[in-house]
Amino acid sequence: MHTSAGSSAVCAWQNNNKKGCKMDNEFKEDVLAGLRLTQKALSPKYFYDAQGSKYFDQICQLEEYYPYRTELSLLPEVARELQDYFHQQSVDSIQLVEFGAGSLHKVKPVLQELKMVKEFIAIDISGAHLQAASEELAEAFPDLPIKAAQGDFTKPIELAPSDATPMGFFPGSTIGNFDPGEALDFLRNARTTLGKDSYLLLGVDTKKDQQMLEDAYDDSSNVTARFNKNILTRINRELNGNFDLSQFEHVAIYNEELGRIEMHLRSLVDQQVTVAGETFQFKQGETIHTENSYKYHPDEFDELVTAAGWKRECLWLAPDAIFSVMLLHSKEDN
Ligand code: TRP
Repeated sequence: MHTSAGSSAVCAWQNNNKKGCKMDNEFKEDVLAGLRLTQKALSPKYFYDAQGSKYFDQICQLEEYYPYRTELSLLPEVARELQDYFHQQSVDSIQLVEFGAGSLHKVKPVLQELKMVKEFIAIDISGAHLQAASEELAEAFPDLPIKAAQGDFTKPIELAPSDATPMGFFPGSTIGNFDPGEALDFLRNARTTLGKDSYLLLGVDTKKDQQMLEDAYDDSSNVTARFNKNILTRINRELNGNFDLSQFEHVAIYNEELGRIEMHLRSLVDQQVTVAGETFQFKQGETIHTENSYKYHPDEFDELVTAAGWKRECLWLAPDAIFSVMLLHSKEDN
């Protein structure tokens, strides 16, 4: 059930988390459990309230944040080559499914070049943001049926059956925000969601010079700092917290051993904070770990791909190998 053209071209539905209250409760339980840990931690999926999604769009415009523009500039060429590749494979129609779709900037060059896409499904945790972005996309592609689904793509998703070949789209190196075990789970779930003989187009950030990496996650205009701290504002608002944002600082460091950027919020003083009636102690210098962004050499990433039952069909590398895009195919034999 989808419609096309006009301002109501976008069909919205709630994927999982059908009741808002279930999600609120999950947020509360996750936050409290995270703050009780010895190394306090919060799940990055909670960055993306309306304000967080806006900050994220600002990050993408930063000079220091190379992944966004690098991937975006690769995609037209990627999509042109995909068009040829699919012709060779006798694939003539595609159901495109974007995970963590956000503002839908990345799918535009793909849709522009890859004319065989017959249907587009966008899944994102931030429903209102996605709906607005989908309506804008519908204006640019009036003949394309578009569905916007609010949902948590870290969980299995049920797609409406389609005659077209499913292709997942997971740009932005969001897969790097999972630890390798979770990334493997995601790849396996995506294979289940998309089915046999499906494809997955993935953007994966590569290992590189430490300074370049750290600058990308700690920009000079402090947008990333505001993005990181916004999770505390959200806790204050939604869970009756009393975090004082001026008493925390944003930290981004490259952990070379684990091959990941770590983002933390570091307490500047000894303090205590109350959230949903529970009190948490912070020592000066103690951090809340808010996000990882793993970086992979293509060969290293290929081990996850193979373990999850996918096969890499194509690999595109940006100049100096600062970012990679790859096409995976689900193997027929399992
Ligand atoms: N997945 C991207 C990355 O790791 C985008 C991203 C997620 C990000 N969270 C972020 C970028 C926080 C900057 C700061 O790069």
